[in-house]
Amino acid sequence: MEADLPTSFWRTAYHAQQWSIMFPIARLRRLVSALSASDEAPAAEAAHALQERYATLLERDLANVEVGLYPRELLFQIPFGRYAWALPKLLSDLPSVIKRISARDHRDLPTEARPERYPAYYRRNFHWQTDGYLSRRSAEIYDVSVELLFAGTADVMRRQIIPPISRELAVRKTGTARLLDIGCGTGRSLAQIATAHPNLPLTGLDISPYYLHEARNVLDDVSDVSLIAENAENMPFRDGYFTIATSVFLFHELPRTVRRQVLAEAYRVLEPGGLLVIADSAQLAESGPLAFFLGRFARNFHEPFYREYVEDDLAEMLGECGFEIEAVEPHFVSKVVVARKP
Ligand SMILES: C[S@@+](CC[C@H](N)C(=O)[O-])C[C@H]1O[C@@H](n2cnc3c(N)ncnc32)[C@H](O)[C@@H]1O
Repeated sequence: MEADLPTSFWRTAYHAQQWSIMFPIARLRRLVSALSASDEAPAAEAAHALQERYATLLERDLANVEVGLYPRELLFQIPFGRYAWALPKLLSDLPSVIKRISARDHRDLPTEARPERYPAYYRRNFHWQTDGYLSRRSAEIYDVSVELLFAGTADVMRRQIIPPISRELAVRKTGTARLLDIGCGTGRSLAQIATAHPNLPLTGLDISPYYLHEARNVLDDVSDVSLIAENAENMPFRDGYFTIATSVFLFHELPRTVRRQVLAEAYRVLEPGGLLVIADSAQLAESGPLAFFLGRFARNFHEPFYREYVEDDLAEMLGECGFEIEAVEPHFVSKVVVARKP
């Protein structure tokens, strides 16, 4: 039945879904900007570049399905029920976020989580979020917050790591491959990879046990997935254990030296010939026209390492760690870098 519907039907349904998320968010943002005199407007060329990137991302998402790089069901996999359940929690949390922003207090963490056990750079309220990454409550509202922040494109940008994985598995024996997602958070990327490649054994690593607890719910119906609560600077895996490593939206939250340490670890745990696929924020190296938006993100959210990250270059970092770069692709406000361990 599904297969009989013409491509134009799916394209229209997909655009309608994305528009119904993006349009109200864009209107709300415009209203907030109009009310807060401090938020300066982008130049026309910058706004145009952003719109063009948005349209290209959606087109790319559809094209990936049409050439068989991932299944169509991913286009319609936004968990609206789960987000509807989390949204009231997010809204009721807003007053404490506003209070924290006013006080510029980024050390407001739950003492029962024993923040002192975590690295200093991690002990903070990234994005001003309540409890930082150190509570179940934070993990429960994280996915819907990120999806709202990116106006319905967070999962779309995440799944741009799948095409290189699909191409890689097509030339290997899937049964012998293993994939590691570094900084997997609540498991949104792993869930999408599992839909595209149900037989691929998956491992997710994250330093937050609270986010991994949420990931267990998200990955409830995935049969072969292990979740490990550890620091990516020192991963508990033997050399060369994984065929593919991925990482999504992690590196912009790490200090410069830690970024390189995590990449060195990724290199160590990959087998020779193994593939690393990273999706993270755009950088000036390939996304100069978005400089206004990247700068605004650093100003409006508590992201202390972001400004320096934007001026750094993931591809260059990977080269320094010994990887060979196979592709650098801009995707809306993110980029995907594909690299191989020689
Ligand atoms: C911005 S979130 C991205 C999460 C997820 N990949 C996604 O796409 O939503 C960054 C994640 O990296 C984790 N993280 C930060 N530093 C880490 C470290 N040193 N080792 C392991 N995980 C880390 C955080 O706990 C958090 O879950």
